[in-house]
Amino acid sequence: MYKEDRAQFWEDIYLADDAGWDLGGVTPVFESIANELIPGKVCIAGCGSGHDAVMFAHRGFEVTGVDFAASAVKALAAKSEEENADVQILRSDIFSLTPNYDNIFDYVIEQTCFCAINPNRRQEYERLMCKIIKPGGKLIGLWFPLDKIITDGGPPWGTTIDDVKSIFKNGWIIEREEFPEISVQPRKNREKLIIFGKR
Ligand SMILES: C[S@@+](CC[C@H](N)C(=O)[O-])C[C@H]1O[C@@H](n2cnc3c(N)ncnc32)[C@H](O)[C@@H]1O
Repeated sequence: MYKEDRAQFWEDIYLADDAGWDLGGVTPVFESIANELIPGKVCIAGCGSGHDAVMFAHRGFEVTGVDFAASAVKALAAKSEEENADVQILRSDIFSLTPNYDNIFDYVIEQTCFCAINPNRRQEYERLMCKIIKPGGKLIGLWFPLDKIITDGGPPWGTTIDDVKSIFKNGWIIEREEFPEISVQPRKNREKLIIFGKR
């Protein structure tokens, strides 16, 4: 088991109030995409405190936020209640979603979950996505951090666009790929939007 496979590794970061990845609000790229999509079932993988989960719920999506850290799901539960959003909150390891959630989701939102898991589990992550997303569904990812290499250590574990594409090679088509103009400033050009469609 890798250190980042343990929920307690992440929980300790939340308890130390050191969750520097939290944008403190909705992700502009996802908000813009939410306005373009036909509402359906969306999973937010490693959702953290869940700003985007609430945003998708308010737009009529059926949202499942998944995270195994107690503080993350607690924050999402509080936010959902405060903002009157209907969100299914799962305190679970994402790798345990299969088989119960196989073929369930129209969309999965990926933001700093791929870089949170150990690089040796990336193909396993791809297989998981392939299982839980319906045929014709989409994996909507902000792939990050592109300015870090694996030997720098992690999490967050660095990646390259070539790495990402080689992992999502079989059974996926690239539907959209761009460096978003509306990435939050500290991540501009350090994250790339790639939407993979599941065949
Ligand atoms: C870097 S944080 C990102 C949180 C959120 N996506 C955001 O952008 O604010 C990674 C999150 O993924 C969760 N996580 C990491 N590995 C996980 C796993 N195997 N199953 C469920 N959650 C996981 C952590 O608890 C943490 O909340």
